[in-house]
Amino acid sequence: MSPHPDDHPPQSVTRTAVRPGWWTEAVIYQVYPRSFADSDGDGMGDLPGIRSRLPHLRDLGVDAVWLSPFYASPQADAGYDVADYRAVDPVFGTLADAEALIADAHALGLRIIVDLVPNHSSHHHDWFRRALAGGPDSPLRRRYHFRPGRGAHGELPPNDWESVFGGPAWTRTTGPDGTPGDWYLHLFAPEQPDFNWDHPAVADEFRSVLRFWLDLGVDGFRIDVAHGLVKPPGLPDAGGPAQARLLDGGAKPFFDQDGVHAVYRSWRALLDEYRGERIFVAEAWTPTVERAARYVRPDELHQAFNFSYLTTPWDASALRAVVDRSLDAMRAVGAPTTWVLSNHDVTRHATRYANPPGLGTQLRTAGDRRLGLRRARAATLLMLALPGSAYLYQGEELGLPDVVDLPDEARQDPSFFRASGQDGFRDGCRVPIPWTEDGPSYGFGPAGSWLPQPADWGGLSVRAQTGAAGSTLELYRSALATRRAHPALGAGDRVDWLDAPPGVLAFRREAEGRAVVCAANTTGAPVPWTAPGTPLLSSGPLPVAGELPPDTTVWWSTP
Ligand code: NOJ
Repeated sequence: MSPHPDDHPPQSVTRTAVRPGWWTEAVIYQVYPRSFADSDGDGMGDLPGIRSRLPHLRDLGVDAVWLSPFYASPQADAGYDVADYRAVDPVFGTLADAEALIADAHALGLRIIVDLVPNHSSHHHDWFRRALAGGPDSPLRRRYHFRPGRGAHGELPPNDWESVFGGPAWTRTTGPDGTPGDWYLHLFAPEQPDFNWDHPAVADEFRSVLRFWLDLGVDGFRIDVAHGLVKPPGLPDAGGPAQARLLDGGAKPFFDQDGVHAVYRSWRALLDEYRGERIFVAEAWTPTVERAARYVRPDELHQAFNFSYLTTPWDASALRAVVDRSLDAMRAVGAPTTWVLSNHDVTRHATRYANPPGLGTQLRTAGDRRLGLRRARAATLLMLALPGSAYLYQGEELGLPDVVDLPDEARQDPSFFRASGQDGFRDGCRVPIPWTEDGPSYGFGPAGSWLPQPADWGGLSVRAQTGAAGSTLELYRSALATRRAHPALGAGDRVDWLDAPPGVLAFRREAEGRAVVCAANTTGAPVPWTAPGTPLLSSGPLPVAGELPPDTTVWWSTP
């Protein structure tokens, strides 16, 4: 196992003060392996590619990297359909590449969090193949949810649940002679059968998988569909339109069952056997942030993504309300709040904010790109001033917009196809990121890329923005360096709101005798504003004395 960051903290990650729990205020950067860096020219990113670009992440100033799945998978849902939880898919490299990546990251002071997909496997998983091949009496079928159909001939699905990706959540099996048989449950694509978490073999298997990756040296796990593992007894009908969409927090009979918490308590006990403050972060879509807080009680997980924050429009009073409610809910269980604006499932925030509010999280319109970028930069600076941990998604540090005009024939998001093109536009935020101004895929790799990149991608590249005054990349670097150096940014669990004109969100944060004021003008017009101290950083051109520019966030150091 490679040396752990705790063993040899390099100068670049030494904090100005010792605070418990690196993760309570960590900035964690999501790498989407397919689209980060391609080392071998097959058009698909890979682990050696990520390794070669780790210095970018060190220079950016993040604390940890979360890698979306790179396990053996037929890629029906971009790797969230795992066929072998202990193997690296050849398209991404080998297990030795994973070990080398962890070792290199640790040497640079970066922690590595991997994705765990326990709600469902791939239909190519050995258990599922054997369950199908073994017929209705196969004991392997009890590790999934197989049921006879309803109707005179079993021709109707066992209940009324619908898949998050569109259509029924059930697919009917066919026997070797072509006779239709039982149905199996898949809350996502048919290629992603749901595990039966009431079966002890499932729980045993995942404890073993956790140990496998912990022994390899990972610093934590992001838990996919953490709210979905346990289904209600008897799989009752939802009794109405049950259709869930990605990130949908509405109450559903198949999500957020109380039984999931026993799973996480057992995982936490296992994790705590390992040294080095390793963590779990839950992807849990819950009806309220208070329900999300149940996943991060002291003996369960460490963090949960704050999707309420991600879905809040660029509006001062809405933002203030979600910040207060999030802090209150997490404080009640002693967990740090997390903040996130973009990930691989939603339209990038530069494009969401370029469009009118209320259009959801998957957009197909570019909107006003200049406005979107201005607001995105302001939103990021606001997020990074809040107490708790922040998640960044690859490419947002370049101010990338979503690619809204991908040709339908290039799309790969399974929900696009199941929803007949009415939904499922996640490919737009998954386009491989640009590293250089030119080259066959703007430095992504030596050849093309699995999704077409727009013609203006080179101007947004890491190389084009490095050292460029006012670039989004330099703004992120400055923000993270300032946050790292200033004790009042990130730490703690409170904000002190200040009186501010309508449309402005202003608060003060204080720690270790030093204070910061952050003000965000969410309106499209300048507002009168008296600077409360010395400016530290601004998301846009530095304010003229006496006013706060439109759609701009500023940090000041204050007495
Ligand atoms: C959530 C993941 O973020 C998403 O990409 C995936 O499609 C679903 N879970 C199913 O695994």
